[in-house]
Amino acid sequence: RLQLGLDIPAWFSYPEVVEELRKSYPPRNKQGFTVFFTGLSGSGKSTIANALRVKLMEMINRPVTLLDGDVVRQHLSSELGFSKEHRNINVQRIGYVASEITKNGGVAICAPIAPYEKMREQVREMIEPLGGFIEIHVSTPLEECEKRDRKGLYALARKGVIKEFTGISDPYEAPINPEMNINTMDFTPDQATQRIVLKLEAMGLIG
Ligand code: PPS
Repeated sequence: RLQLGLDIPAWFSYPEVVEELRKSYPPRNKQGFTVFFTGLSGSGKSTIANALRVKLMEMINRPVTLLDGDVVRQHLSSELGFSKEHRNINVQRIGYVASEITKNGGVAICAPIAPYEKMREQVREMIEPLGGFIEIHVSTPLEECEKRDRKGLYALARKGVIKEFTGISDPYEAPINPEMNINTMDFTPDQATQRIVLKLEAMGLIG
């Protein structure tokens, strides 16, 4: 016991113990968290992100915010193009908004292409101290994304009408160590959502 005239255990004075206590409160399943999807255009990020949003809203009593690539570009990053610098600014903004949501106990689901590993790492470093963070690579192969070509953008990129198109004329750095990989050739959106929910439960973030 400390000689402070207070009836508190001596270990309480150790900064690392205090830090541990701080990290474990609120308990993990009451803290905010971010689910960060990354993948090529047309890989299925938005579809899975939307399905996950609906599922989490049914399951947990916390606000769930979806920051989809396309929507963010309309509202938050409308002045930005697709150069490396602009993509990084865009992803950094998404990361910042997600970090605020996470800090305040909410759930942020992000679904940009986010092609650069270094910027994804920075986003992780910004959010992890504030709550949970899970990176999911929607790893549908380029050939399949191009075959589906839901928005007709790959055809335009091949013709050179759209420049700097990810996977065609601009790089995509696949994540080195994501918490999950989802190839939409192997899983339906419902199956993918179920896998993510199980992972979030295993990480103690929900349930
Ligand atoms: S990034 O790299 O993270 O900043 O991209 P993001 O904000 O997610 O925007 C991707 C969507 O923009 C459309 N689009 C392009 N994508 C890639 N490269 C180029 N040059 C491009 N131009 C427009 C495209 O519809 C992407 O949407 P998704 O939903 O990914 O298909």
